[in-house]
Amino acid sequence: MTAGLDPVKLMKQQVGKVAADRVQSGSIIGLGTGSTTAFAIQFIGDRLKSGELQNIKGIPTSFQASVLAKQHGIPLTTLDEVDLIDIAIDGADEVDPQKNLIKGGGAAHTREKIVDSLAKEFIVVVDKSKMVDTLGSTFPLPVEVLPMAIAPVTAALQNLGGTVDLRMGVKKDGPVITDQGNMVLDVKFDRIDDPVAFEQRVNNIPGVLENGLFVNVADIVLIGDIENDQPIVRNMDA
Ligand code: A5P
Repeated sequence: MTAGLDPVKLMKQQVGKVAADRVQSGSIIGLGTGSTTAFAIQFIGDRLKSGELQNIKGIPTSFQASVLAKQHGIPLTTLDEVDLIDIAIDGADEVDPQKNLIKGGGAAHTREKIVDSLAKEFIVVVDKSKMVDTLGSTFPLPVEVLPMAIAPVTAALQNLGGTVDLRMGVKKDGPVITDQGNMVLDVKFDRIDDPVAFEQRVNNIPGVLENGLFVNVADIVLIGDIENDQPIVRNMDA
């Protein structure tokens, strides 16, 4: 049945659907960023259109999430208007066995951390390639930095043992500019053994706005896989 179809896309699609099915009417939903969450946003919109879901509002974590929500008919609100977020759905670049994450592959981790941390239930949606034993082993740590502080922050991150790259735009000359008007440094460490301490250490460097370590934030991790040629979804805790 899946012959000829991109297996990664199938896994992302299925995990996005399972997450979207957990949304209940009347909820305030944190809408994450990235290709996996894009499927969840699409399926939430489908449920809304069919009448299965009613009276929901989304809080987008990025310009991309906001555009997708509008495209799929999901009304939006802001953190000024609501007291709490019921459920957030968001992707990740790495997930460790303690459900700690590296995020920011789409340069949206600053708003994502605000929204995902406020949610009563934060569901992470990933395909199985994102699972790692130790954070940092496959993906560099994204760090959002105020443009005037790029040089000193680069030096400070190198002093912590990182190999630092300024993230460059695609189809745009020069660096990626975040939704907040800042830049992103991708910092490769061999491994990040103590993510709790490291998250704070990086954020303490003057000029750093936020880094992509999400520690003790995720409640549920849904993992897309392919089994017997079919996309399946596992709950990491099951
Ligand atoms: C956005 O900045 C990221 O945190 C994404 O959530 C993360 O990169 C996962 O993206 P994909 O679902 O596209 O892999």
